[in-house]
Amino acid sequence: MDARTKMKPAFAQTRGGLFSKVAKADVGGGYLELGRQGVALMGWADPFYPEPAIPPHVRDALVRAIDSGFPAHYMPPVGDDALKEEIAKKLAAFNHLQVDPRRNIIITPGSDAGLFFSILPFVGPGDDVMIVDPSYPNNFQAVELLGGHAVHVPVYARDHFQPRIEEFERRVTPATKAIVLTNPNNPTTAVCRREFLQQLAGFAIRHDLICIVDQAFEDSVFDGVEFVTLASLPGMFERTVTVFSISKGMALSGLRVGYIVADDKVMDTMYGCAVAVIGATNTASQIAARAAFRDSSFVAKYVQVFDRRRKMAYEIFSDVPGVKMAMPESGFFCWVDVGALGTGGEIAARLMEQRIAAVNGGDAYGRQGRDYIRIILGSMGSDGQVRDALERMAAFFRQLAAQKGLQ
Ligand SMILES: Cc1ncc(COP(=O)(O)O)c(C=O)c1O
Repeated sequence: MDARTKMKPAFAQTRGGLFSKVAKADVGGGYLELGRQGVALMGWADPFYPEPAIPPHVRDALVRAIDSGFPAHYMPPVGDDALKEEIAKKLAAFNHLQVDPRRNIIITPGSDAGLFFSILPFVGPGDDVMIVDPSYPNNFQAVELLGGHAVHVPVYARDHFQPRIEEFERRVTPATKAIVLTNPNNPTTAVCRREFLQQLAGFAIRHDLICIVDQAFEDSVFDGVEFVTLASLPGMFERTVTVFSISKGMALSGLRVGYIVADDKVMDTMYGCAVAVIGATNTASQIAARAAFRDSSFVAKYVQVFDRRRKMAYEIFSDVPGVKMAMPESGFFCWVDVGALGTGGEIAARLMEQRIAAVNGGDAYGRQGRDYIRIILGSMGSDGQVRDALERMAAFFRQLAAQKGLQ
């Protein structure tokens, strides 16, 4: 018997699994095997991987927690109150959101689980959900797994990947239920400007839509660009679920802690089904996360590293024929147009074959990603390792460009 025949079509049709012919960089142990073979691992958005990167005070809190024996027990399914209090302070200071930590925050086992949990109550068969294309693959997949219809809203390099409200207006229908937005965006690194978010708020209110906003990369925004939390705009808190992570800016991905923030009415139902959906988040990790929020000064140091690395990539790729890259606005990766050399998927496969680097083909991020690759610059311990991998990539691109007669 093939149990897949009993599955909902969206699940049965999922690609990239066990029997997939196309290696998916971010699933399974194949990726780690590439690392053992000397391939530079630049496909996981995991800062400093595989070097240990845990600030001493967070490590101490983790070790003390484990020594106490208490982490063998559950925390409350909606999360540790002490951690939520720390997070509420951060939300007030950074996101301009005043929330009650006991009512408006749920701690999740990472923000991927948080994102799925945020979309789950709202999306089912017959619902259209607007998603910027390109953006984080889970946005599309989560909506489709729930039976909803992902409506791709394109963003363009000529706009520096800033979404345009006209592109949303053009696609809205009576079936439109929600917008899922990754801000700052992964993979484009674009940070939505206040003006656009105000337009989006007006659009969501006018069409009575729910907004789910993933802010996993909010901590690393460069060049003084203002970061605005959509939920903080007038009239938006009641219709927005915001998803956060400690994996990226804090580089604590292995702790598996994320959190979601929403108003009382949304949280009423989410609290009600938290056990069924997420169980509870790891106890030791939540205790360590308290320490990370109490003193998060290390984040600024990481941002300096990411800033150096984006400039390094920009400089290395700037004079490579057939390759176009804009200076990243946020995060620790770059989004590179290699369309003149091949599709992003082809180029990513060739970089892997050549044992140079594991990067991501852009088509995973939506239809607009076809010509692109995403390169994680934040992985690996030293800038020198990243430079070396980028230079090897650039040399390979030069060879390809020469074969195609590009100058
Ligand atoms: C935009 C975005 N959201 C969420 C996640 C998931 O992060 P985590 O589950 O580690 O919090 C990622 C990871 O790459 C991401 O890029």
